[in-house]
Amino acid sequence: MTEKYPFSKGLAGVPAAETVLSFINGQEGKLYYLGIPIEEWAEHSTFEEVALALLLRRLPKKDEMKMFNAALRSARELPPEVIDFILDLPPDTHPMAALRTVVSLLEAYDYDAKLEDLEAKFRISVRLIAKFPTIVAYFDRARKGLELIPPDPTLGHAANFLYMLKGERPSDYEARVMDIALILHADHGMNASTFTAMVIASTLSDMYSAITGGVAALKGPLHGGANERVLKMLKEIGSPENAEKYILDKLAKKERIMGFGHRVYKAYDPRARILKKFAEELTKRSEFYQTAVKVEEIMIREKGAKGIFPNVDFYSGLVYNALGIDTDLFTPIFAIARVAGWTAHVLEYLEDNRIFRPRAIYKGEIDKKYIPIDER
Ligand code: SDX
Repeated sequence: MTEKYPFSKGLAGVPAAETVLSFINGQEGKLYYLGIPIEEWAEHSTFEEVALALLLRRLPKKDEMKMFNAALRSARELPPEVIDFILDLPPDTHPMAALRTVVSLLEAYDYDAKLEDLEAKFRISVRLIAKFPTIVAYFDRARKGLELIPPDPTLGHAANFLYMLKGERPSDYEARVMDIALILHADHGMNASTFTAMVIASTLSDMYSAITGGVAALKGPLHGGANERVLKMLKEIGSPENAEKYILDKLAKKERIMGFGHRVYKAYDPRARILKKFAEELTKRSEFYQTAVKVEEIMIREKGAKGIFPNVDFYSGLVYNALGIDTDLFTPIFAIARVAGWTAHVLEYLEDNRIFRPRAIYKGEIDKKYIPIDER
């Protein structure tokens, strides 16, 4: 049977939608949001501005930003019943499982979820972007038996997240580092979690279901969960001197080194380059940082020719760890940023929707006889 489209496992390289939101030049290691290089966004913008730009698919005007900031800050709090649910979650629940479950639960408390128009979905997108940091911070403090710190409307998105998490206002530098980390993670083309959210949305299911799916997909260690594994790996290695043997042993066993490789980038991930700088500053070139740099050198020596370089997950963990954030919160932070990309891609795709329904190549037999169970 000839296939109209060539088979590509995991849809590698297969275009499944059109977008103006972000573009990745994998060969040269370049990333653009709305045509603007990621380095420009990181230097001049804020996560709030990036989020609104993605939702609007253009740079927002000053009055739009003012309204969006006000909408975000007034939507940060969670319904009391949802807070009670978070307080009752088992403390050893993985934070990504807690986030995924609470996002799903929030639908029950949002009248807009019953509406199907894009304006309602836009309003839900704003609420989700506003609430993700609160969900993560509330769960973390609840599991530690600490009092919940309500959102502070005088603080920006990144600063408020750190404040709710730690119970003290971050320094301007710490808040700016977190803000830039969120900018870097906000969108990235048709990655697995964005694709998941779009598939769900393309059936005309609701935005809460689509974003619940996005969180579920991001949890996996091959996708957003790698940053948590990178830090565990660096702790296992222990020092730069141990890196050579540790990495070569893993590679010899054909094991994947977390934080390296990418379906699209065959060059250094530009986000990793920016995060590496912050990791160096925040750790003051600690032995931990030097171990990471040594792992990078070894991996580029061993695998660079095959296009395997550090990806966004390799240095993000060092940055979050230096900000005093628990390792299992690294992927939820990724989700706090990527919810902007997920919702933006869903809204964009729904403007000219077509349900996703790829094919599978059938490899079984045909017209076989049914054999009654007593004769098998
Ligand atoms: C993110 O898609 C996105 O945009 C994702 C993301 C985003 O912003 O949304 O950028 C975020 O998910 C970053 C990736 C985080 N994941 C990891 O760091 C996990 C480790 N990386 C690998 O599992 C892998 O590189 C993937 C999953 C990221 C990409 O997998 P592919 O494209 O399916 O590549 P592959 O499995 O076909 O590997 C090709 C070759 C293989 O060698 P051969 O069998 O051909 O000899 O490269 C090797 C692989 O063994 N390889 C690695 C490797 N990644 C690929 N070898 C060692 N370590 C690695 N990390």
